[in-house]
Amino acid sequence: NEEIFKNVISHAKEYGFVFQSSEIYDGLSAVYDYGQLGAELKNNIKTYWWKAMVQMHENIVGLDSAIFMHPKVWKASGHVDGFNDPMIDNKDSKKRYRADQLLEDKIAAYEAEGEKLKAESLQTEMDNALKAEDLPRLKELIEEHKIVCPFSKTANWTDVRQFNLMFATQFGAMAEGSEEVYLRPETAQGIFVNFLNVQKSGRMKIPFGIAQIGKAFRNEVIARQFIMRMREFEQMEMQFFVRPGTEMEWYNKWKETRLKWHLALGTNPEKYKFHDHAKLAHYANAAVDIEFEFPFGFKEVEGIHSRTDFDLSQHQEFSGKKMQYFDPEVDEETGKPYGNYIPYVIETSIGLDRFFLVTLINSFEEQDLSTEDKQDSRSVLKLHPALAPYKAAILPLTKKDGLPEKAREIMDQLKLDFNMAYDEKDSIGKRYRRQDAIGTPFCITVDYDTLTDNSVTIRHRDSMTQERVAIQDLQKIIGDLVSW
Ligand code: GAP
Repeated sequence: NEEIFKNVISHAKEYGFVFQSSEIYDGLSAVYDYGQLGAELKNNIKTYWWKAMVQMHENIVGLDSAIFMHPKVWKASGHVDGFNDPMIDNKDSKKRYRADQLLEDKIAAYEAEGEKLKAESLQTEMDNALKAEDLPRLKELIEEHKIVCPFSKTANWTDVRQFNLMFATQFGAMAEGSEEVYLRPETAQGIFVNFLNVQKSGRMKIPFGIAQIGKAFRNEVIARQFIMRMREFEQMEMQFFVRPGTEMEWYNKWKETRLKWHLALGTNPEKYKFHDHAKLAHYANAAVDIEFEFPFGFKEVEGIHSRTDFDLSQHQEFSGKKMQYFDPEVDEETGKPYGNYIPYVIETSIGLDRFFLVTLINSFEEQDLSTEDKQDSRSVLKLHPALAPYKAAILPLTKKDGLPEKAREIMDQLKLDFNMAYDEKDSIGKRYRRQDAIGTPFCITVDYDTLTDNSVTIRHRDSMTQERVAIQDLQKIIGDLVSW
């Protein structure tokens, strides 16, 4: 499995999906750039999410709020006081670790050794300590289970301390006297503070949602596993505002709806599972993760949280502005309108980069195509056609005799509707392989017959089968296959 993961990472780099940030300066830890194909794939994922969440729901609208927000926002939201990770330092190596991560690794090690009971009991003890924010107990557990630093191999630990994950920076031209602001650690707060702006200007009626895609920043202490845990990343979040008392119904509905979204891409359902939170974030009364089976185990990709009226009430208190909604609908029990209240919120929050990684891992295959006479293999990205960076590649069989001109003519027709690749370099076999490796669902080959009969060969990426079709039908054939 480690091998598969390594291959996915090197494939992502080799074909221009993901690069280490500032690579020529030896990189910046846990920060990544998306290359020419990565940018396309990422945009297609955003579109898939936006269509499913905004376009398909009349009662959900979009928002694009700023990364910088008033410093009081993060006081109100609880992030200044509560957005912490419990950290511990090894005195010999001077390396810093998340205490819960050290324990998680130990639990995984027990499981690998078949020590099921030990794993379960440590899991429970850790969950209890985290829930009670009992930092000394976390240290005791690390010591009781003889956990050593992977570098120094010693168990010479400091106490466990809380470490805030927000990045702070200076606002205004002069550092002196200027105010400190934070880079947002989640996009959700931009939605909460605009709740009434959107509700009033859009004449929204409860239940309704506000969705947004944008950057978030967290000073993660352990950054590892490629684009799994980054310091700068993107979230796709939706806050759904509901009448108090109906939140569990909506929580369950969004849980199911979001899992369906993941599975609609054709993923094996066994690769996904729900994981209920033992430790709830400071704002939630129920929370579940949608986990995907990565090569390094089941890990969170998306969170569904029932945030109660915590955020809106906090903003009402800190800003002094009413965050109430007037609900004109009549309560059947009392016969009176529901009237003024602060809505409850169900949130769906998915990491775009983490889902990008799911997409790569899910689609990457190394296939042995050897026959008795010939050794052969290919790397293929079996991306859902709607997510593929290029929808089709146009390949003239040779570089002469008018074939490139004819190929360009077809390209010019199709590129208005689809992102198309054009390639005339190398043998046709090599060109097919290259398109397979970047996930292009169709290759369209222009040959000598094309010049007389106006037809081309279409090759399908997954089955590698070929068929002859009329040029005038290409638009519809590709359109049908790459649509959502
Ligand atoms: N507004 C709620 C919220 O931010 P979260 O569980 O902290 O909840 C939501 O984050 C999602 O964002 C996660 O499920 C994960 O996919 C993604 N995410 C969180 N931290 C991340 C990081 N450091 N790097 C990449 N993705 C991250």
